[in-house]
Amino acid sequence: MRAIHFETYNAPFRPVHVPLPELQEGQVLVKMTAAAVNMRDHLIRSGMYRHVPPPLGPSSPVVGNEGAGIVVATRERRYPEGTRVFFSDGYHLPCGGVWQEYVVADIQHLHPVPPGKSLVEAAALRTAFQSAWMALEQGGFRPEIEPTQVVLAPAIGSGVGNAAVQLVRASGGPEALTTAGSSFKAEHAQGLGYRNVIDLSRETLQAGVARLAAGGVDVALDLLGGTFTAQALSVLKPGRALTLVGYASGDPHATIPLYELIGKKIELRPFNLLLAPQEARSRALEHILRLWQENRIQPHIDRVFHFTEAEQAMHHLLHGRPFGKVLLLFDEGKHDERE
Ligand SMILES: NC(=O)c1ccc[n+]([C@@H]2O[C@H](COP(=O)([O-])OP(=O)(O)OC[C@H]3O[C@@H](n4cnc5c(N)ncnc54)[C@H](OP(=O)(O)O)[C@@H]3O)[C@@H](O)[C@H]2O)c1
Repeated sequence: MRAIHFETYNAPFRPVHVPLPELQEGQVLVKMTAAAVNMRDHLIRSGMYRHVPPPLGPSSPVVGNEGAGIVVATRERRYPEGTRVFFSDGYHLPCGGVWQEYVVADIQHLHPVPPGKSLVEAAALRTAFQSAWMALEQGGFRPEIEPTQVVLAPAIGSGVGNAAVQLVRASGGPEALTTAGSSFKAEHAQGLGYRNVIDLSRETLQAGVARLAAGGVDVALDLLGGTFTAQALSVLKPGRALTLVGYASGDPHATIPLYELIGKKIELRPFNLLLAPQEARSRALEHILRLWQENRIQPHIDRVFHFTEAEQAMHHLLHGRPFGKVLLLFDEGKHDERE
């Protein structure tokens, strides 16, 4: 079978032939249908995860954290052959990540795909929505207690930002404020029904927030880092928190105006899905699966690539400014089966 490897840090992703993995008691063999391409795959390939357990790098070179497929051999009766599954954490699988044609998995890393839902959507859902929900909660989002909270969830075309806007909507709160880096993306988002888009190529975040929510925001996620961090701090109401999720701007540094932190007594809360307690991750997953089954959330898919084109797919994620998730497909023509 073929798997996607990288030989050394920063080397390209490329397909190589590897032996079919052997099944142990309690494990299943999954034939992959689709896998997502995430920034974390790029960060691992760049060496930025070499100190995070388990150490991920060229010694465990198969990447890919999320995906979905069909059980084709089993030594676990709860997952018979033909079960449609998605993975809850590809990087903790015994055989490395999920960018390979067949994946051996222990069942604690598997979840059944609900009937009526496609495997491609299942591959696109988990990381973005689970991260978004947990980051919102960490940032103080509590719609049952404060139903009118104003949320800033930037980058409407991003996996996590888009998911956060949908999750806020599904919770019944006011439509979240969001951003787009270009007018093209802002107009596309408005065409899809996202109402509170701040086009950062035309106005500043501060001007956009003043136009849409004069009092400022109660909950803010920072997905972008760089100069965005200070801007997000400036639009938060006093006593609130900024949840630090990522630095998709490419700049992992931020200059923080201490007068905003001290003057408004704002907390910085770093979020890390990988280091979050299992119990909290499971609760978040349950929540998003329920909303997905009720058709109240839906991942956007920007573009699919054949899995042997993983390098091109990553290039598209990093430089193509996609709107929605970038996916790898393993078996063309058979990827959209629903049960
Ligand atoms: N901490 C965690 O556990 C965790 C979990 C999931 C994700 N993350 C991180 O959160 C961030 C968002 O993740 P994601 O999967 O939602 O990202 P994504 O789908 O790749 O989207 C990134 C967004 O960043 C914006 N952007 C701004 N400047 C950019 C630039 N120079 N190059 C490329 N994009 C740029 C783009 O929106 P515009 O085109 O509108 O500007 C793009 O839609 C990433 O940094 C990711 O690593 C962290």
